Amino acid sequence: MTNLKVHHIGYLVKKLEAAIRSFENLGYQITQETVYDDIRKVNICFLEKDGYMIELVAPVSEDSVVAGLMKKYKNSPYHICYETEDFERDFQELTANGFIAIDTPTPAPALQNRDVVFLTNASMGMIELIR
Ligand code: NI
Repeated sequence: MTNLKVHHIGYLVKKLEAAIRSFENLGYQITQETVYDDIRKVNICFLEKDGYMIELVAPVSEDSVVAGLMKKYKNSPYHICYETEDFERDFQELTANGFIAIDTPTPAPALQNRDVVFLTNASMGMIELIR
């Protein structure tokens, strides 16, 4: 593996505007206004505090990729996203070591259309890798 760096923490929220206000009350500042991701059917915005970047993800419809997760987790952090020095190499190495890709690398409109892929691991749940 190359030296993975934490890019953001993904946080599932039911009501985006209310969640933004609550995070702002804690001192978070919006760094990326709300973007609709039409591939995943979610609204996404980014906030930052103390160098920590939080991605708020809110399902927009019943067939959103996170609709099922929302039923299970409610409002909750649900993934950590990592930047990698060598996406192809690390993606391959992760899948060879117990991480199962749950989609294919796909552009993320809220991240300047950089490709992201989600993987799950039996002992640590879901991570995201960004190209
Ligand atoms: Ni994310």
